[in-house]
Amino acid sequence: MSSDTLVYLDGRFLPRAQACVPVMDRGFLFGDSVYEVIPVYGGHLFRLEHHLDRLDGSLAAIRMANPLGHDAWRAMLRELVGQRPGADQSVYLQVTRGPAEKRDHAIPDAVTPTVFAMAVPLAPIDPAIAEHGIAAITLADNRWLRCDIKATTLLANVLARQEAKERGAVEAILLREGLAVEGAASNLFVVSDGRVLTPPKSRFLLPGITRDLVIELARANAIPCVEEDVPVAVLEGAGEVWLTSSTREVMPVTRLDGRVLGDGRPGPVWRRMNELYQAYKARLRQQPDE
Ligand code: PDD
Repeated sequence: MSSDTLVYLDGRFLPRAQACVPVMDRGFLFGDSVYEVIPVYGGHLFRLEHHLDRLDGSLAAIRMANPLGHDAWRAMLRELVGQRPGADQSVYLQVTRGPAEKRDHAIPDAVTPTVFAMAVPLAPIDPAIAEHGIAAITLADNRWLRCDIKATTLLANVLARQEAKERGAVEAILLREGLAVEGAASNLFVVSDGRVLTPPKSRFLLPGITRDLVIELARANAIPCVEEDVPVAVLEGAGEVWLTSSTREVMPVTRLDGRVLGDGRPGPVWRRMNELYQAYKARLRQQPDE
């Protein structure tokens, strides 16, 4: 990120090096905070309303009012990404409970939220992934029971992802009570018996914006797709396994816990879905500027 690119903090645009949050901020002390990651293609924010709706849901779940309305978010984020006209970027935004007088777990009566946002260049997807896919491992899901909240309290996800990295994999697929739930920072899809399956929304997984789009694209293009529990045995026997996220799109998994899946290449259903996904992005890029 170049040093003259501005970030947004509490109503102001300023250089990132000058953007500071007080040490008493409850986001820092308790992870008392929520966030969103929004890709930007050709200057256009991807599914912005869906991201803002999910932010509303996360804030409501942690008993916070949204400090900005959707119009104000839209205007601020457009200004932020407008610094690199037409570029692919990734927006990170975070709302914390704000700084308090003393460190106390209970929520203070009067506290002003901290609102932060930055846009960074979005790394293009490595073309080798379409050729060879990625490696994933499975791990026990030791997160809390409100994984539907997009909270910055991500230590369990950080450790899972690190273990994947140390074992030569890109992502960890988390298992809870015999079911495959989602990745450490992605949602899970499997292709089994000619159908695309993804675990239904629940408190055990993040309602991914990419996940919703993949389901929409499948249904609009006659690819059978259902929201259904994925037992570990179904994951292990699946013809194809995909992991989805805003920044990494639809990743085909070709190695699971060191074992090669199928012929070790991304499968035909993934290729079709990836075409549909890329076409969706291309349409977004061609939209007129707002
Ligand atoms: N993470 N599940 C988890 C636990 C995630 O952290 C993410 C995304 C997803 C996919 O959600 P979406 O399709 O809306 O990106 C699922 C973001 C990218 C991150 O933490 O950087």
